[in-house]
Amino acid sequence: MATKGLILAGGKGTRLYPLTHIFSKQLQPVYDKPMIYYPLSTLMLGGIKDILIISTPIDTPNYEKLLGDGSQWGINLEYVVQESPAGLPQAFILGEDFINKEQSCLILGDNIFYGKLDFLRNGLKENLGGTIFAYKVENPQEYGVVEFNKEKIVISIEEKPNEPKSNFAIPGLYIFDENVSNYSKNLKPSKRGELEITDLQKIYLAEEKLNVQQISRGVAWLDTGTPGSLLDAANFIQAIEKRQGLKIACLEEIALLMNFINMEEYENTVNNLPNCDYKNYCLKILKEI
Ligand code: G1P
Repeated sequence: MATKGLILAGGKGTRLYPLTHIFSKQLQPVYDKPMIYYPLSTLMLGGIKDILIISTPIDTPNYEKLLGDGSQWGINLEYVVQESPAGLPQAFILGEDFINKEQSCLILGDNIFYGKLDFLRNGLKENLGGTIFAYKVENPQEYGVVEFNKEKIVISIEEKPNEPKSNFAIPGLYIFDENVSNYSKNLKPSKRGELEITDLQKIYLAEEKLNVQQISRGVAWLDTGTPGSLLDAANFIQAIEKRQGLKIACLEEIALLMNFINMEEYENTVNNLPNCDYKNYCLKILKEI
C-alpha cells in the first residue's frame, strides 16, 4: 500500500529566536544541510514518494524554492499553508485531500533519525490502525510519554507530564490509517489551546489499534528545538560524516539508492547543482557505486 507522507514545518520556533526571526526553524542549518532535508530523507528511506509539506504563509514559498516539486529526486512534493498553528493533528485536517483515505506517515520537521530505519519500514508495512514509536531519553517531560506494563503493553500516554511515568518519549514520527483526518477533526483543544497528537494516539489506543514500537538504542533520535540541541545535532552529523566520508541525508544519493531515479536522472540532477562540496560528494559516490 502506498503511504502518503507529511512533514510539518510550521511553528514560530521561538526557542531558537533570534535565529528564527527571519528563517523558519526547519530551514536552519544542521551542519551542512537545511534541517528539513533530514526528515525528508527519513520518509524517502521509508519508501514514501508522495509528500506534503505544511508550513506558515511566510515560510511556505521558501520551502518551495528549496525543494521544488521533488521531481529531481523522483518524488512528488506538494505544499499546503497552515494559516495559524493549532496543534500537530491539524496536519491531518489540512492534508485530508492529499491523504485521500490512504495510510499516512507524519514526521515533524525538526526530528532527526539516524541509523537502521527498519522500525519505520516495518511499521509502514504492518500498521493496522496507528503505529507510534518509543525512545528512551533522559528528559521525557519535554515529550509525549508512553508507559508500558511488564508485558510491554501500553497503559498510558501523556503529553509533557511534569512527573513522567517512564523514560520513553514518543518521537515525532507517526503512522495512521485512513481514519486519521476524521479523528483529528473531532479532537478538542487541550488546556494550552492546541489539538494534541497524544489525544489522537489515545483514540487508537482505546480502539485497541495502537501499536507502539520501541526504537532500539542503536538508532539516534535527535531533536533540534533549542540552540544547544541544534548544535548537538550538527556536531553529531559532522562527526559521522567526517569519519565515514559518507553524507547523511544526501537526497540525491538516497533517490538513487531507493531507485526513485535512474543513473541518467541522477547525473542530470547532480549536474544542476552549483559547484560545492555537496556536489563533489554526489559525483564521488557515483564512482563508488
Ligand atoms: C511534539 C508532540 C510530542 C512529541 C514531540 C516529538 O511536541 O506534542 O508528543 O513527543 O513533538 O518531537 P513539541 O516538541 O512539538 O512541543
